[in-house]
Amino acid sequence: MTAATAHAHPNIALVKYWGKRDEQLMLPQTGSLSMTLDILPTTTTVELDPDAAADEFVLGDTAAGPAATGRVVRFLDLVRERAGRPERAVVRSVNTAPTGAGMASSAAGFAALAGAASAAYGLPTDARSLSVLARRGSGSAARSVIPGLAVWHAGHDDSSSFAEPVDAPPMRLVAVSVDAPEKAVSSREGMRRTALTSPFHTAWTASASRDLEAMLDACRDGDFSRIGRIAETNALRMHAVTQAADPPIRYLRPSSIAVLDEVQSMRRAGLEAYATADAGPHVFVLARPADADAVARALAPLGEVRVAGPGPGVRVERHDERHGARQ
Ligand code: DP6
Repeated sequence: MTAATAHAHPNIALVKYWGKRDEQLMLPQTGSLSMTLDILPTTTTVELDPDAAADEFVLGDTAAGPAATGRVVRFLDLVRERAGRPERAVVRSVNTAPTGAGMASSAAGFAALAGAASAAYGLPTDARSLSVLARRGSGSAARSVIPGLAVWHAGHDDSSSFAEPVDAPPMRLVAVSVDAPEKAVSSREGMRRTALTSPFHTAWTASASRDLEAMLDACRDGDFSRIGRIAETNALRMHAVTQAADPPIRYLRPSSIAVLDEVQSMRRAGLEAYATADAGPHVFVLARPADADAVARALAPLGEVRVAGPGPGVRVERHDERHGARQ
């Protein structure tokens, strides 16, 4: 029996990925930049079973539904093709994100799956190989392979589209889980609809590329204020292009807007913080480490707050074949 386990964390984009150039290869239209967090890890074990006729996917302690299982099976098919091995597998994944908090992350999930499956099937487990592979499961998973700040290069083919670390000043992200229903439109569908129907899509793509260049400059200069301004503007532009789709998609709820407003008044009062939000109602607020607790206190009335710092990249453990022990 060959088995391996991997741990990975969610990431939040400070310059968003919102559009694919190639849906098959999962190549993005533009590069993006994110912070891998140190909270809410996912742990995934892949155990090969030469006698099994089908893959199995267990999420927590229950068998996953057909849609989630289908994504895992397609991902394992790719791993098997690359490894030249036919065995089916049992995949067990444990998500520490509380159900309903809206923080469950396909990025952490596919980064952990890429790590565990690569080790179990004998594929390379260096960061670049794992980033390329994780991307095929979910684009943003390419970045969860990398610790701390990560830039995902759009690339021009499968092997050139991967994430790598970026130096940046110390920062915290205050996660605010607001009381609002989960997203009704998945990122995948939202991106597709935006590209096909939003009249602002070309402008979004051009501005996201400029935002990434400006963000990399700001990171190089260690300029927190510039990093924050670019992150907030880029996020609101993503939500604007998405709202202009037909039918429109709105991920931000009144409770999300209340957080955005509070962040603006904090800044007016001299507490420097900047907001971002992915394809859902929850808001993430960038702050200097010394200000993070004050920011979290100010936002606590508006949702459930967690202060996150830069987290580790994917970590792979191989199991000893004879004893099932971990190395
Ligand atoms: C808004 O990576 O979840 O969080 O590649 O289709 O699986 P797929 O989408 P996904 O999209 C993430 C979108 C985002 C922005 C970002 O993380 O950059």
